[in-house]
Amino acid sequence: MATFTLPKNSKISRNGQTHEAADGAGETKKFKVYRYDPDSGENPRYDTFEVDTESCGPMVLDALIKMKSEQDSTLTFRRSCREGICGSCSMNINGKNGLACTTAIEDCKGDVRITPLPHMDVVKDLVPDFTHFYAQYASIKPWLQTLTPEPSGKERLQSPEDREKLDGLYECILCACCSTSCPSYWWNSDKFLGPAILLQAYRWLADSRDEMTGERLDELEDPFRLYRCHTIMNCANVCPKGLSPAKAIAEIKKMTAERHI
Ligand code: SF4
Ligand code: F3S
Ligand code: FES
Repeated sequence: MATFTLPKNSKISRNGQTHEAADGAGETKKFKVYRYDPDSGENPRYDTFEVDTESCGPMVLDALIKMKSEQDSTLTFRRSCREGICGSCSMNINGKNGLACTTAIEDCKGDVRITPLPHMDVVKDLVPDFTHFYAQYASIKPWLQTLTPEPSGKERLQSPEDREKLDGLYECILCACCSTSCPSYWWNSDKFLGPAILLQAYRWLADSRDEMTGERLDELEDPFRLYRCHTIMNCANVCPKGLSPAKAIAEIKKMTAERHI
């Protein structure tokens, strides 16, 4: 389900600026982009950018880079890899969370409305504050934890079958598109870990080399941290890598239930 919710503390004022395309532009498309500078004391606004799509790359990120290069250098957004690997350019595009670098302009109907990921504090324009998200990530200890000494001079080996159990998990790029589309996370992000972090938690629970499964489950088994997932499924619908945090969460719930049989 596509979702659109304004970022926290948002009021859109009516004085958004319009940046027209340069004279002689070919075919143009309008982008309505959320602008907010908390230090300015002004309300957020939408600015309109007319972009010459004939002299622009094919992706929404290309359009943002063109706006910043040619129309307003103060426009602020994150990006790095421009190929869906780093997770930096996650934002809300026409009501759906996704990556600007893998969203084609031609797939966006009508004017394109771009806002930061929903329900996060905004640092500036399209840049959300990931401090809490990363603290939640650190809380699940996202590294291999072992008790037995490692085989001398050797890696800890894993069978191909055990390695396959990490497929659908290791590909997560921590873009937070899923967590910020989850209503349970919107309302309880102080205590609920949310789909991205729970998928990462399951990535270590599913790893045959990890030896702290019991401790990891102890940490998760809590009415809020894990059980605030009510199977709403937005997370699986928006993940730009095609992953299913909902399935990973169901697997964790199954593991916790099996402990009590
Ligand atoms: Fe992004 Fe998908 Fe990972 Fe969620 S599960 S953080 S949407 S890559
Ligand atoms: Fe949220 Fe996904 Fe669960 S949208 S409620 S984490 S299934
Ligand atoms: Fe890296 Fe978009 S720029 S995922």
